[in-house]
Amino acid sequence: MIVLAIDAGTTGVTALVVTENGQIISKGYEEFAQHFPEPGRVEHNPEDIWQATLSACATALRGTTQTPSCVGLTNQRETAVLWDRRTLAAPRRAIVWQDRRTAALCGRLREAAHEPRVSELTGLRLDPYFTATKLTWLAENDPRVWEGVESGHVAIGTVDSYLIARLTAGARHVTDPSNASRTLLYGLASGTWEPELCELFGVPEEALPEIVPNYGPIGRTEPSAFLGLDVPISGVAGDQQAALFGQTCFDVGDVKCTYGTGSFVLTNLGGEIVRSESGLLTTVAWQTPSGERTFALEGSIFVTGAAVQWLRDGLGVIGTAPESEAVARTVPDSGGVVFVPALTGLGAPHWDPQARGLITGITRGTTRAHLVRATLEAIAFEVRDVVESMTGGLGSNGDGPVLKADGGASANDLLMQVQADQLGAAVERPAIQETTALGAAFLAGLGAGVWGSRTELRETWHLDRRFEPGERDDAAYERWRAAVRLATHGA
Ligand code: G3P
Repeated sequence: MIVLAIDAGTTGVTALVVTENGQIISKGYEEFAQHFPEPGRVEHNPEDIWQATLSACATALRGTTQTPSCVGLTNQRETAVLWDRRTLAAPRRAIVWQDRRTAALCGRLREAAHEPRVSELTGLRLDPYFTATKLTWLAENDPRVWEGVESGHVAIGTVDSYLIARLTAGARHVTDPSNASRTLLYGLASGTWEPELCELFGVPEEALPEIVPNYGPIGRTEPSAFLGLDVPISGVAGDQQAALFGQTCFDVGDVKCTYGTGSFVLTNLGGEIVRSESGLLTTVAWQTPSGERTFALEGSIFVTGAAVQWLRDGLGVIGTAPESEAVARTVPDSGGVVFVPALTGLGAPHWDPQARGLITGITRGTTRAHLVRATLEAIAFEVRDVVESMTGGLGSNGDGPVLKADGGASANDLLMQVQADQLGAAVERPAIQETTALGAAFLAGLGAGVWGSRTELRETWHLDRRFEPGERDDAAYERWRAAVRLATHGA
């Protein structure tokens, strides 16, 4: 039996064919265009995401003669997507999670004292990151599209809902609790859309998807729409929660960090809704078909891998992202250079949409290697900031505290070592670093009976390398903290 897993990320779609042993036998990947219509605005054309999905899946499926037993889906979260219920065409581009256009709107809602109640209900905060204010913006600024929403022709969703609508040729308009819990419209305690929040943000509840558990019968792919396949869609989750599942972080206190465009640290809270006093979010990790929910504490860092991309594309100081490791290794440290990559404001634990990036400590002797090394260090410092905000810190696997790392930049051995040093804790990297898509495969396979239990899934997890903590450069971390203060208050 094989499972087809789709990971519709922020810059591209990955499709994996996963076997019962949890091995990847083939893969497809397709990038899609990013639109930056104005500074601070980020948009995607939903049709591009769908076409990239078709293309990535077709490539992955060319690597096998078997028909998948089921499909699992995971996705960039929070992004607001609208589509015509009949034609499935999107009447406008999606507003992406990174988009900051609603910073002023969030400020107004905060001034009107709405934040405590919104946080109490959702576990989130009033930040442009989340879906709801993006919808308020559409209601206020795109009346043509909003008329469609109000008259019932146009459906609202996140990328998961949109892709499930496309995969089922419009038969299903659904989302799951992990994605719903990122919208600012879902009640953490109630487990449903909250009428009070729909009212506050001006979103008609009828336009929102039905919330279904993270695995089990979700829908069926329509052959005429999806590569001739008629198979169950039996797993769906937001990408960070899928990665937590793919890392088999099933026990309370297990922590993972996915190093992608941004980095997202999630810790398993079990069935308890624990709230953070220090800038972390409380969110749904997953819900079983019998309705049992697991929660997670999340530290969302917006720019980590994207900072390395900026060194490559914005400054041209490296040719490829992986080259950053070799360049950074040519110097013993950053030579006092500190880079705060607040390129789209700052997320956890600082939450300042107005913060701007800065580089400090430059001297006549500074080289590109120092800057590249400072960038890798910044990623490690950002993750340390978040982990230090987690009461209880890192969970332990019997061998002391450990952070399970995955995502593209986890392949960077230098970054992983600096991370372990900075945390004063081990960092474990699994053999399969595409944990996000793997998590979607696990959920779908559980939902369709490919795997019978989480114990079976655990057996498929294998360690690639464990990085033990070495000497910790606390002076460098103090310089980082000082620079972050400048990036936030000096902006
Ligand atoms: O919350 C945003 C997150 O879901 C995006 O993840 O990996 O697509 O950058 P990624």
